[in-house]
Amino acid sequence: MKAEQSKQSDWVLYSRLLGYVSVYAGAFLLSFFGFIVYSISNVLLADLTQFLLDSLGEASQIGIGFVARTAHWFWPPGDMDPVHYARMAVPAAAIVLALIRASGYFFGNYFMNIVARGVVHRLRTQVFDVLIRVPKPAIDAYTHGELVSKLTFNVEQVSGASSEALKTILRDGLTVLALISYMLYLNWKLTLVFFAIAPAIAVVVLVVGRHFRRYSKRIQESMGEVTQLSNESVAAFDEIRMFAAAAQQSERFHAASQFNRVQSLKLAFVQAVSTPVAQVLLSVALAVLFWFALDPDILAGFTAGSLVAFIAAATQLGKPIRTLTNVQSVVQRGLAAAEDLFQQIDTPLETDNGRVSIERAKGAISFQHVSFSYPGDNHRVLSDLSLEIPAGSMVAFVGRSGAGKTTLMQLLCRFYAPDNGQICLDEQPIENFRLSEYRHQLAIVAQQVVLFSDTVRANVIFGQHDSRDDEAVYAALEAAQAASFVSELPRGIDTRLGDGGGGLSGGQRQRLAIARAVLKNAPVLILDEATSALDTESEAAIQASLEAASAGRTTLVIAHRLSTVERADLIVVMDKGRIVAQGTHQSLIGEPGLYATLYQQGFSPS
Ligand SMILES: Nc1ncnc2c1ncn2[C@@H]1O[C@H](COP(=O)(O)OP(=O)(O)OP(=O)(O)O)[C@@H](O)[C@H]1O
Ligand SMILES: [Mg+2]
Repeated sequence: MKAEQSKQSDWVLYSRLLGYVSVYAGAFLLSFFGFIVYSISNVLLADLTQFLLDSLGEASQIGIGFVARTAHWFWPPGDMDPVHYARMAVPAAAIVLALIRASGYFFGNYFMNIVARGVVHRLRTQVFDVLIRVPKPAIDAYTHGELVSKLTFNVEQVSGASSEALKTILRDGLTVLALISYMLYLNWKLTLVFFAIAPAIAVVVLVVGRHFRRYSKRIQESMGEVTQLSNESVAAFDEIRMFAAAAQQSERFHAASQFNRVQSLKLAFVQAVSTPVAQVLLSVALAVLFWFALDPDILAGFTAGSLVAFIAAATQLGKPIRTLTNVQSVVQRGLAAAEDLFQQIDTPLETDNGRVSIERAKGAISFQHVSFSYPGDNHRVLSDLSLEIPAGSMVAFVGRSGAGKTTLMQLLCRFYAPDNGQICLDEQPIENFRLSEYRHQLAIVAQQVVLFSDTVRANVIFGQHDSRDDEAVYAALEAAQAASFVSELPRGIDTRLGDGGGGLSGGQRQRLAIARAVLKNAPVLILDEATSALDTESEAAIQASLEAASAGRTTLVIAHRLSTVERADLIVVMDKGRIVAQGTHQSLIGEPGLYATLYQQGFSPS
């Protein structure tokens, strides 16, 4: 089901993501600046301890820390008693520092969110815009749930990576940098002890990262399945109840959710192990540090205040390093999701090599030796099929289910290209036309009518942005025999249809789809009749709507009703991807064969 995901190197991914971030360079810089302020204030809070302690010590040690010096510069103590001075200066400095740190935190976090939400928005809209423009085979490879899950779940994963992770990396990364610089400044030899432990932490981070990525990928895929099953089950409300399939459906859902749970737990396990391991390594480093720090020779180089400040800084390192190892899971999840989204964004759009312009076709269609198999499937769905359809005629296609009728129309719509042979419109191969102009020549009422959860009007003028003309909408509804039931809806054409046209009967939905096709006013109309049985009243209405809709155009109807078939200028009988007979109802009914059989069965699917 899933296309083999190309393994992109992390750097390619990082730099591509960075490209998204660069759009918000201003906000990013503000956030960066905020976090610098934040991390420096953290160091200064450690330095404040030195100020406090040294004020109690000897006169020579007073005022050697950063904060102490800054305080002295702002407010010279004169001949004030050091303790008395410190009693006022230290709390004041603490409050000022806290305020500065708070604003650094605000700028850092808020502006990073501006960046992250921007990245998510861009990614999501890009994936969406690609999704609605890719060729049909690219969509066929996924279930709807998988596609929806990409737009919702995967995009949010990237948001996690670009907001939470970037914030943590900046905030805690800078804090670690600042603390280490401060420690180097106080006593560089002692600080080197700390670095001895760094490679061990790096190994933990790397090993853990690899596992994170693997599990994250599986979680994403299982989210696709969970979404798909949820969508299906909501849509199949009636079927599930009537076929007593609740148990079966819940078993599938439980299995999908269970897989998701197990993979998430594996991820959580690695995450829960990695943090304490990093923490233990860090504590070992601290223990060694204490041992050296209390060495009499080293001790001599410190004032009491600076020793405490040094230890305070070293202890403060613990938290940011812990969060930095922890944030890996978020980063890896984001990278796994980004990889998937980029792959989606890179899907080539529908190719259009057509150069021929077309205003309005006459509507003559010919199929010449057309053969076709669906991509990735060896089964021949159409074999060497040839057919001439004069402009303005009405052709009915009949044949058993699976004969290839819908497929033939899909080729005509240029959703797929034939493997062999060609299809022409007005004697020009259809792939020579500009795609959008070509599709403008066709109006289609699909086998499964799709209505949008929007007003009746919006459904009828779908795609016709310039048509705001209610007259035209009413005329189309009239032609499609839909005007009377629409006028009985609570708010007429302004009535919002439920999900997928819920609240309407099958026949009503089909007539709305016909109205939509009528409004498009294309020279070629394709109608893939629903196979569901319709009551006679609505059959008559649909018949009348079809008559009106087909007037003056070439009409291709895949017919399941005698009333439709009888009206056709030409009837094409298809079987196993071939045309086995063609002619009028009168000529075909006289000879034994598939048509006579289908006629006896009332053209309903067999
Ligand atoms: N997307 C697809 N991928 C692979 N095979 C497909 C796909 N769609 C249809 N087929 C196969 O192609 C064959 C023809 O299907 P098609 O939908 O054209 O039949 P049909 O004549 O329209 O049938 P019906 O009257 O039931 O609508 C079938 O065997 C079907 O299994
Ligand atoms: Mg069909």
